[in-house]
Amino acid sequence: MRLTTPTAPTAATAAGPLRVLYVCAEVFPWLKTGGLADVSAALPPALSALGADVRLLMPAFSAIAAGVEPQGPIIHLPAGGTHGLPHGLGPQAHTASGTAPGLQAGRLKDTGQPVWLLHAPGLYQQGLNPYQDDHGHPWANSAERFGWLGWAAALLGSGLVPGAGWSADVVHGHDWHTGLAFGYLHALRHKGLSQATTVFTIHNLAYQGVFGAGVRAGLGLPDSLFHMQGLEYHGNVSFMKAGLVYADHITTVSPTYAHEITTPEQGFGLDGVLRQRRGRLHGILNGVDSSVWNPAADPLVQPGFDAEHLEGKALAKTALQDRMGLAPRPDALLCTVVSRLTGQKGLHLVAQVADELVARGGQLAVLGAGEPGIEQALRDAQHRHPGQVALHVGYDEPLAHTLVAGADVILVPSHFEPCGLTQLYGLRYGTLPLVRAVGGLADTVTDSSLENLDDGSASGFVFTSFDAKGLHTALRRAFALYRRPADWRTVQRHAMGLRFDWDRAAQAYLHVYRMAQTDRQHSGTPHA
Ligand code: ADP
Ligand code: GLC
Repeated sequence: MRLTTPTAPTAATAAGPLRVLYVCAEVFPWLKTGGLADVSAALPPALSALGADVRLLMPAFSAIAAGVEPQGPIIHLPAGGTHGLPHGLGPQAHTASGTAPGLQAGRLKDTGQPVWLLHAPGLYQQGLNPYQDDHGHPWANSAERFGWLGWAAALLGSGLVPGAGWSADVVHGHDWHTGLAFGYLHALRHKGLSQATTVFTIHNLAYQGVFGAGVRAGLGLPDSLFHMQGLEYHGNVSFMKAGLVYADHITTVSPTYAHEITTPEQGFGLDGVLRQRRGRLHGILNGVDSSVWNPAADPLVQPGFDAEHLEGKALAKTALQDRMGLAPRPDALLCTVVSRLTGQKGLHLVAQVADELVARGGQLAVLGAGEPGIEQALRDAQHRHPGQVALHVGYDEPLAHTLVAGADVILVPSHFEPCGLTQLYGLRYGTLPLVRAVGGLADTVTDSSLENLDDGSASGFVFTSFDAKGLHTALRRAFALYRRPADWRTVQRHAMGLRFDWDRAAQAYLHVYRMAQTDRQHSGTPHA
């Protein structure tokens, strides 16, 4: 066990290590649509390093199953009315396609991380994306896919899977895909069948998993959960709301976002619920997994570099320009974007300032995929400025490293941003983040204003107003600093020295687990 300070919390007690069931739908490098996968790869080992016994629970999507070394048989999951479970609670014994889901223990092949795989032939094998079909529409069986995940989490966490030989002290679910777990756990607890403490983490409140009330019967959701103070949302079933209402404590991925989501502007219709639960809502910043994102030891960036030896960064810039078909101009201010192309990310603003950026002598390299309108606007900019603006549409992990390492500035002009990871990767690689002051971006980047330059806290560029003018003003600041190489170096050195590590975040999560356990001991069994 590793402790960073003598007072750091530990996850081991006289009763043994704290058992944490970490429930999620994606994990890097096996299945990734966004930052949640990076978090799910890094937080469990950081918790284990503090003494916790952490098991992932994930649907056996083909990409996940390919990354897991199975370690036992598939254990059938009991349904409501069997094994002493209440009638009518939980999905029926079979999925709509007629198969009986089951759990199988295993380990992730790359790290040895213990995993429970949720097998349900017919439910998890379609396509590559866990949430959407090839046309970008949510899977027609989404409610069933993630309803079963919630049911499996509730049973396993409560020690109600005969033959599993494991139960959890803490069930920790991530995003709406796991929300129903907290509804089922609440119902089981009410029947005296579950002792597990529960924590729900919001990575993105914009995606809520809302389904027509007709899904209730198939998912075995008791009427006692379907009301305004429960998981009902305007007559529908909301998986997200189930997590928000029924988890003992809630976390999200930055302190600023934790506040923002309690306001009507950023609450996506759930700010009222979040205001009610404010006392149990915490903001814990994500970290950087330095086994994946470290400029000195990145196998995808050779030769590497660090804050004192930047020759490798100059070579990375040349490699980036070459790879993306940009003119080989070592002195151009090279800006990059690595992102999902969605409204959240504000990238239409980047398309709007592209002409000005090039007119000032800059270059732009974009890697992303998503909404056709944003893609087209960036493609138009590329056509207007061949050799100065380059777009690569798609998801490409090695190229993401090439861009983060070789650029001077990484643009993250988000409309909202729960945490954001690419600005953290930018800081680490001396690629100064230019961000909008929202969510985790506001918590992690300090503007290069005169006063911040003066006191040495500057680490990037920050703007407030969500329009092209706001972005443009911050860009001008970036160009101005770039013309002062000594000042640029100072900011770069400071940025590269900042550490957002997972050990700190894991300690904060442990603290929340402990608070939640203490609250439960004091409050006893709540009423359904
Ligand atoms: P979000 O989760 O909202 O998409 P984050 O900044 O938290 O935003 O995480 C995004 C993650 O996905 C980062 O690891 C980033 O490098 C990666 N990423 C985003 N788009 C791409 C892409 N087109 N190709 C490769 N990696 C990408
Ligand atoms: C979400 C958010 C992003 C965050 C990531 C990991 O996808 O959009 O801001 O960094 O989750 O927590």
